[in-house]
Amino acid sequence: MSRILDVKGLEGGYGTVQILHGIDLYVEEGEFVTIIGPNGCGKSTFIKVIFGIATHYNGSVLYNNETISNWRTDQLVNNGIAYVPQVDNVFPSLSIFENLQMGGNSLPTKVLNDRIEEALDMFPDLRTRVHDLAASLSGGERQMLAISRALISKPKFLLLDEPTAALSPLYQSQIIDKIDELRDTGITILIVEQNARLSLSKSDRGYIFANGKVVHTGDAKDILNDPEIGEYFLGNKSD
Ligand SMILES: Nc1ncnc2c1ncn2[C@@H]1O[C@H](COP(=O)(O)OP(=O)(O)O)[C@@H](O)[C@H]1O
Ligand SMILES: [Mg+2]
Repeated sequence: MSRILDVKGLEGGYGTVQILHGIDLYVEEGEFVTIIGPNGCGKSTFIKVIFGIATHYNGSVLYNNETISNWRTDQLVNNGIAYVPQVDNVFPSLSIFENLQMGGNSLPTKVLNDRIEEALDMFPDLRTRVHDLAASLSGGERQMLAISRALISKPKFLLLDEPTAALSPLYQSQIIDKIDELRDTGITILIVEQNARLSLSKSDRGYIFANGKVVHTGDAKDILNDPEIGEYFLGNKSD
């Protein structure tokens, strides 16, 4: 297996505010990897530094063995990286179809329409409503739209930031199942999740962040079965 992402000693933040203090993290091609950790520990910031929208200070960020820390967002997207942000990830005043078009507005119309069809095949619930405004969607449907829009660029590597936040348990598992299906189609997954148990149950490996550092990493199964980690991070106190 080869590493699609290989990060070593990453320091980053926002302007002069350092948030990440030396993160080592890798993702093998085809893997499903989950990052968990308490609020404010730098999970979103890490994803944003990878995607070039927060500040990179130091450390190497290799994507398919190439340094990408100086790449523009459009270069990252054109080379197969897509990002689904935690918030504001759809345009409520546009229709579902228009939102999907925004996912590939530099593509030739025919290619774009084919890709929208493929995205709708993946999320058939959206197909019946393509002309409705995104504002009319439920929270779970909005997340599905945000993910399907990210698919329009035909990513090889998908970064997702808390796609199940604030959703009902039913939608939470539907979304994680969908992401697992995307992995089965060959897309490598790196996801930040507050619903640690659910996401780790589909993951190969996990990372636990605290205070801008990796405090633990290992096989997802081992993390799920570790009683100490369970108590602190997965909310499964034994009482
Ligand atoms: N745009 C920003 N400018 C300055 N600090 C920020 C910004 N966004 C987030 N932070 C701070 O960075 C820290 C890590 O935030 P974040 O990466 O969003 O945490 P997590 O995703 O793990 O909850 C927090 O202290 C947060 O207040
Ligand atoms: Mg976050």
